[in-house]
Amino acid sequence: MNSNFDEDINRYHTFSEKWDGVEKIYYEPDLLPLWVADMDFRSPLPVREAMAKRIEHGVFGYNIRMESYYNAIVDWMDRKHNWTIQQEWICYSPGVMPAISLIINDFTQPGDHILVQPPVYAPLSEVVIKNNRKLVENPLKYENNRYTIDFIDLEKKLAQGIKVLILCSPQNPVGRVWGEEELTILAQKCIERDVLIISDEIHSDLIYQGNKHIPLASLSEEIAQRSIVCNAPTKTFNLPGVQTANIIIPNEKLRKLYKSALNRHFLQFSNTFGVIATESAYRYGADWLNECMAYVEKNLSLVDSYLKEHVPEMKVVQPEGTYLAWIDCQELKFDTPTLMKCMLKKAKVAPVFGKTFGSEGEGFLRLNLAAPRSLIQRGLQQMSTAIHEYRAARKNV
Ligand SMILES: Cc1ncc(COP(=O)(O)O)c(C=O)c1O
Repeated sequence: MNSNFDEDINRYHTFSEKWDGVEKIYYEPDLLPLWVADMDFRSPLPVREAMAKRIEHGVFGYNIRMESYYNAIVDWMDRKHNWTIQQEWICYSPGVMPAISLIINDFTQPGDHILVQPPVYAPLSEVVIKNNRKLVENPLKYENNRYTIDFIDLEKKLAQGIKVLILCSPQNPVGRVWGEEELTILAQKCIERDVLIISDEIHSDLIYQGNKHIPLASLSEEIAQRSIVCNAPTKTFNLPGVQTANIIIPNEKLRKLYKSALNRHFLQFSNTFGVIATESAYRYGADWLNECMAYVEKNLSLVDSYLKEHVPEMKVVQPEGTYLAWIDCQELKFDTPTLMKCMLKKAKVAPVFGKTFGSEGEGFLRLNLAAPRSLIQRGLQQMSTAIHEYRAARKNV
């Protein structure tokens, strides 16, 4: 192994949201931050070297996206996902969320109905509300510690007149990597009702052994023509601060509309490090990613076995992808304020509390597993001690 994922890198005073920003969010000092979805690992060495070389060059003018940049993306989609895409399908965005916001603004009207599937990454709901569209929810079904799509409810909601469905694939926070059958049924229903699908696939490269991500638009030509796939190298290679994304739009009309919106908002210029990082990560980052996911998978096993032994009322919902662990804490029988107090004040651990992802997330926590094992171990011990102490104190009252 070339990368040292065990290294505990001090991220304080790096303008890090996860480390420097945690106290301001949770009003508590000295928290172990296992919240924001970025990694505590260094990005792949070839990416850092390419960026360092560019810094050494020292001239930071405006950028264009050159042939080699597009080729690197096309090759990655082919090698990683067995998906043949055309270079002209690739559109730029300074992030997945700005692209989704732009699409909602430009492809729909205020008051139009847009569907999401909670519990889900909160900005996917916020982007609908903040743009004055009507948020329609099709909650995922949770049975036997596993999430699936509720197709009966979906059918009902689509019948009400939905303009856009925002799919989170793989799903943050529940970790599902949607299968071919589920995706095909969902897409078919959208075709029948003339619904555009925005497929947020930012976690698509972060897949555990035995699972396979299927890009929505790779399923069929008909599905591709009504899909906008949002992708990025930023989650995959720990580059989210670089803020860049690839918005893949096979349909020419939709692509023209998107590009004109991007230009109208003067967002068409790439960040210097966005282009460098994208190209070098997709070209040279595959080995690092394999090592990283093998490491994260061991962290997942640790969390699972530790909780089974020490706090069996906290159950990991086994993820198929993402470096996030969605933990069902309902058997603890703590209400949200108690769970928050226990985690933040007693354990000094900062997860994301499930309610953030919608009311369906109440009683759950999301832990970030992309951290050195020593930090994960410390977090688990602190959480376990806090819960046992809290219970003992409650018994004595
Ligand atoms: C599902 C999902 N979409 C989008 C984003 C954010 O993407 P970006 O920083 O490119 O806007 C995240 C970040 O956690 C995410 O989990």
